[in-house]
Amino acid sequence: MKAQEIRRQFIQFFESKQHNMVVSAPLIIKDDPTLLFTNSGMNQFKDLFLGNAPIKFPRVCNSQKCLRVSGKHNDLEEVGVDTYHHTLFEMLGNWSFGDYFKVDAINWAWEFLVDVCKINPANLYVTVFEGAQDDGLGMDQEAYDLWKKIIPEDRILMGNKKDNFWEMGKMGPCGPCTEIHVDIRDKAEKLKIPGKDLVNNDHPQVIEVWNLVFMEFNRLANGSLQKLPAQHVDTGMGFERLAMVLQGKQSNYDTDVFSSLIAKVEELTKIKYGTNEVTDIAIRVIVDHVRAVSFAIAEGQMPSNTGAGYVIRRILRRAVRYAFSKLNYNQPLLCQLVNVLAQQMGDYFPEIIAQQALVEKVIQEEENNFLRTLDKGIDRYQSHKNELKSNVLSGKIAFELYDTFGFPIDLTQLLAREDGLMVDMEEFESELQIQKDRSRKASLLETDDWQVVNEGDGKFIGYDFVQSETEILRYRAVKNKGKNLFQIELKESPFYPEGGGQVGDQGFLVLGEAKIKVLDTKKENGIILLTTEQLPSEINGKITAQVDHSLRFNTACNHSATHLMHYALRSILGTHVEQKGSLVNGNYLRFDFSHFQKVSDEELQQIVALVKQQIRQNLPLEEQREISIQEAKSMGAMALFGEKYGDKVRMIKFGNSVELCGGIHIHSTAQIGNFIITSESAVAAGIRRIEAITGEAAEAFLQNELNTLKDIKVLMKNPKDILQQIQILQDEKSDLEKKLNDLISEKANTIKNSLINKIEHRNGVEVLIQKIEINSADAVKDICFQLKQKYPNLLLVLGAEINQKPNLSVIVGDELLQKGTFKANEIIKDLSKFIQGGGGGQPFYATAGGKKLEGLDEALLVAQKLV
Ligand code: SER
Repeated sequence: MKAQEIRRQFIQFFESKQHNMVVSAPLIIKDDPTLLFTNSGMNQFKDLFLGNAPIKFPRVCNSQKCLRVSGKHNDLEEVGVDTYHHTLFEMLGNWSFGDYFKVDAINWAWEFLVDVCKINPANLYVTVFEGAQDDGLGMDQEAYDLWKKIIPEDRILMGNKKDNFWEMGKMGPCGPCTEIHVDIRDKAEKLKIPGKDLVNNDHPQVIEVWNLVFMEFNRLANGSLQKLPAQHVDTGMGFERLAMVLQGKQSNYDTDVFSSLIAKVEELTKIKYGTNEVTDIAIRVIVDHVRAVSFAIAEGQMPSNTGAGYVIRRILRRAVRYAFSKLNYNQPLLCQLVNVLAQQMGDYFPEIIAQQALVEKVIQEEENNFLRTLDKGIDRYQSHKNELKSNVLSGKIAFELYDTFGFPIDLTQLLAREDGLMVDMEEFESELQIQKDRSRKASLLETDDWQVVNEGDGKFIGYDFVQSETEILRYRAVKNKGKNLFQIELKESPFYPEGGGQVGDQGFLVLGEAKIKVLDTKKENGIILLTTEQLPSEINGKITAQVDHSLRFNTACNHSATHLMHYALRSILGTHVEQKGSLVNGNYLRFDFSHFQKVSDEELQQIVALVKQQIRQNLPLEEQREISIQEAKSMGAMALFGEKYGDKVRMIKFGNSVELCGGIHIHSTAQIGNFIITSESAVAAGIRRIEAITGEAAEAFLQNELNTLKDIKVLMKNPKDILQQIQILQDEKSDLEKKLNDLISEKANTIKNSLINKIEHRNGVEVLIQKIEINSADAVKDICFQLKQKYPNLLLVLGAEINQKPNLSVIVGDELLQKGTFKANEIIKDLSKFIQGGGGGQPFYATAGGKKLEGLDEALLVAQKLV
C-alpha cells in the first residue's frame, strides 16, 4: 500500500465509524506558553479534554503533523541515528470526546490493523498499564480483559508509567494507555528471541505502531492527578512506521515517504544510501530534517534566534553539519530537496506547494549563512590549534566552537583527532551544563495550581466594552524569570488577550479606592489570563475591570492600518504578497510579508498614498463575528497557513480590505488620522518588513520633523530655497576643504625642509627632536615617513598641537632599527606620560595623543636624552 493510500484508508475507516475528519492543526503553537510545537495529535484538542471548550463533534479523526524536538517529548538526537525516530512525523489518530471509551477504541484499532491493513495478528503484541503506586493507580484491568478476548494472553505485556501512562507535558490531561507493537523480523530471528522480549527495548524491528490513550486525569502543578469532567480517547499511530510495516520494509526510510528524497540526495552528493553506516545516518538526518524545516517555514515560522524559530534553526543546522562533515557537501543542499518534498506531501498538506518558492529561498539563505559560519569556525579551530602548548584542546574552546559556530562536538573531536589532539571532554560537558542551566532559568514560567473563586466560564466582551463590572473566576500564582506575579481569569473580560500580532490589553482592576495594574493579557488554551503583581484585597467581591482606553485606541488604529496597508501592498506589489508576521501595539505596527525584492521608494509612496486614500474615505468597520469560513473566503478573505481557524470565523472589512481577524479595530478609518512608513527592510530571504505609525504617534513624528526644519531655516537665515542653499554650503565646504589640504601639504613640505637642517649626528644616530606647528595628524605622519625614507639612521621625535591636544610621534629609521637600541613603541610609552596620554605602535613608528598640552616640551626635553 502506498503511503498516501494508507492515510486515505485510515480516514475512511474511522469515517465509517461516524468520525469527523479534521485537518491537521498548525505545527507552531501560538496560544499555549507551555508548548512551542504540536507534539501529538491531541494538542489541538487539549481544551476539549479539559472542558474549556464546547464539544462540537464527539468523534474525530485526522492525520496531524507533529514535531518532537523540545520539551518533554524530544527525539532530536535519535533522529537519523536509528531508523524509526523523526523530527516531523504524521500521527494518525481517532478521538472520542466523552463518547466511546476503551471497548471501541481497542476493538477498532484491532479491526483496522488486522482486517483493513491485513497485518498478521501473530506479529502483534500489546502493552497495558501496570499501575503506579506514587499516583495511587492500579493496573488497567479493563484494558487487559478487553485484549484477552482478542489476543492470546502471553502477548499482553505489562508496561510501567514511563511507557504506558501518557502525559502531554509536565501538566495537563493524561491517562493510562495501551500500545500495539509489531514484530517485523524474519522467521529465523523470531526463533532466536521471542518478540515479547524485545517490546519497548529499542529494537528497530519490534516497534510500537499505535498508542491508545484513555484520558481520565489532569496532572496539576503540585504533581497530583485530578479526575477530568469526562472520559476521552486519544489515539496516535505513527504514519511512517505503519507505512514501513505495510510496505514490508525494515526501516521508515525505505518507504515511499522518504525514497524520493533519498534518491535526490544520492543524485546531488553522488553518495549511495545503504553503503556505509556513517553516510547513511547523514542522509537520514537530511531527508528527515528538511521536512520539519520546510513545514515550519511554510507556516510562516522563520529560523531565528529565539523560541520556535531557534529550534527550527538548530534542526536545519544539524542537517547542514551532517551534509558538510559526513557527505563532504559544502553547498546548500536542503533547499534543493523542497521540490521533491512538495510532490511527496503536497496532496494532503497544500501549504508546502503554495509556499514552495519562499521555503526554498529561506532555506538556501540559512544554509549559505551557516556554511560561512562553519568556515569561520574552522579558521578559529586552526588558530587555537596553532597556539596549543600541549596535545589537549581545551573544553572551553570546543564549547565556543559548539556554541558560537554550531560545531557539533564530534566534528571538533574529528578535527582534533586528525591533528593528533584530544578534546578535554570533561570541561566541555561542564560548560554545556552551565549553559543549559542558564537557559532553563531564563525561560522558566512556573505556575501554581488554580484557586477557584467563583464557578462559571470566562467570556470575552472586549469587542463591545472597555470596562465591566465583573468578578474573578480563579487565579494562580506564577513565577516568570524570577518575578512573582498572578494570573487572573475574569467572568467577563474586556481585556483583549495577545493574539493575531496584537499585544494584550493593559489597564486596571478597580476595587473601591484600590487600583491594581493589569500588566498584560494573554490567552492560554482558550482562557483569558490577566497578569498582575497583586491580588485584590477582596477576592470574592465585584470588581471593575478597566482597559487602558487610550492605549487600546492607539493599538486599534495601528491594527486597522495594518489591514489597509496589507490591501495596499497586494494592490501595488501584487497578490504574491502574503502576511508572514505582524506586531501591533500602541506605538507602531510592524508587518512582515513575502516579496522578493526591496520595495522601492516610489512603491512605498504609492502604498502610503493608497492607505491614506482609504483613511480619507472614512470607510466604516464592517464586522461579522460568526461567519462560516467559506462565506468569508467568498467575500475575499484570505486564510493564512499556520493559523488555526474554527468553522466560524470573524471577518473584518474596511472597503476592499477583507481579513479574517480576531483583533481590535476602530469604527471607521478616518479615526486612524495619519499613516507614515518609518522603515522598510529585509527580515529573511524573500521576506520584507515595513514599520509604520499612525494617529498621535504620526502627528508627533511630523511635528518633530517640522520643528527640525524650522530650526534649520532659522539657522540658515530663512533662505528662499532651503535645499539650494544647503547644496551651496556643501559645495563651498568641499571647495574649502580642498584648499585647506593644499595649504597644509605646502606647509608640511616647508616644515620638512626646515627640519632637515636640524638633524644632528650623535654617535652614528641622526637625531631630530622638534616641536612643529601644524594642525593635522595626517600631515605629521607624512613628514615622519618622508624623513624616515631619506635617513636610515634617523631617530625622530616630533611634538605637535592637534585640535588643542598634544601629539607625539616617534620614528626609528630602518638601519637604526636593525641595531636594536631603539624601539619607537617603547620610547612612546615613556614619553606619553608627560602629556598624560596613551599610545602605541610598532618598533619603527609609534604615536601618542594626550591631555596635557604643557607636557609636550618636557616630553621633548626627555627625548633629547635618549642619545
Ligand atoms: N497522545 C498519544 C501520543 O502522542 C496518542 O495520540 O502518543
